[in-house]
Amino acid sequence: MQRIRKAVIPAAGYGKRFYPLTRAQPKEMLPVLDKPVIHYVVEEAVSSGLDEILIIVGAGKDAIINYFDKNKMDDELDNYGFKGMPDIYFVRQKEQKGLGDAIRYAKNFTGDDDFVVLLGDTIYKSETERTVTSQLINLYEKTGSPSIIVERVKAEKIRDYGIVDGEKVSDDVFRVRSIVEKPDPSDSPSDLGVTGIYILGPYIYECLENIPLGRNGEYQLSDAYNLLVKKMDVFALIMKGKRYDIGTKELWIKTFIEFASKHGGYG
Ligand code: G1P
Repeated sequence: MQRIRKAVIPAAGYGKRFYPLTRAQPKEMLPVLDKPVIHYVVEEAVSSGLDEILIIVGAGKDAIINYFDKNKMDDELDNYGFKGMPDIYFVRQKEQKGLGDAIRYAKNFTGDDDFVVLLGDTIYKSETERTVTSQLINLYEKTGSPSIIVERVKAEKIRDYGIVDGEKVSDDVFRVRSIVEKPDPSDSPSDLGVTGIYILGPYIYECLENIPLGRNGEYQLSDAYNLLVKKMDVFALIMKGKRYDIGTKELWIKTFIEFASKHGGYG
């Protein structure tokens, strides 16, 4: 079994739900306390042993690229992990056509390797000694199969997530039958929401080539999964930890306040 070393971080969406904040800055650059969200995502990758990182950006996202440039302050203020940070690669999605389209741009970077996808707008805090990403890598190392992190979501939040229809394999693992992208709560197959950590392999690109435009007129990664489950086992793991979705203004404000209130200096 190959050790997973590659992380793909899509950060190319419009950030519509943050308008007007995101008119001139990417939502992934919104601050949570003293760092932008994307920094936490890269930290999650690095602390999970992923040392080759690709960030998929799009129009208006240059600030993300600039953020990871060497800065003359880095040596002086070395408490943010920039010194040991691995090289970060960037690719530009030509047009914003959805998550499923964005992942296609990772093909040359990932080559024959399996890889982790971490969404650029989500922060994780693990409740175990393993990061949430490492929890999924641990499952992958046992099965060798594509896998995704899920969490139980409240009924009113179901329409914000991809929801897994699955068959229970153990307390926290399900074999995925399908993913329904943002269903109406009354039609939802379960309360298992896709959080935004995925382990995939090169086989996903063929699926991505064969999906039609999906929900919201975008290419959906969930639709590619629905092709994938016909060919191989796909597992969903309920994470042990907390997830901070920076996907809406309300969630961002809540996250900021929670991080600040727990900080020794600002609390
Ligand atoms: C994406 C995925 C969805 C997933 C969600 C997690 O949606 O399409 O399946 O549940 O991320 O945040 P988005 O939030 O980009 O609309």
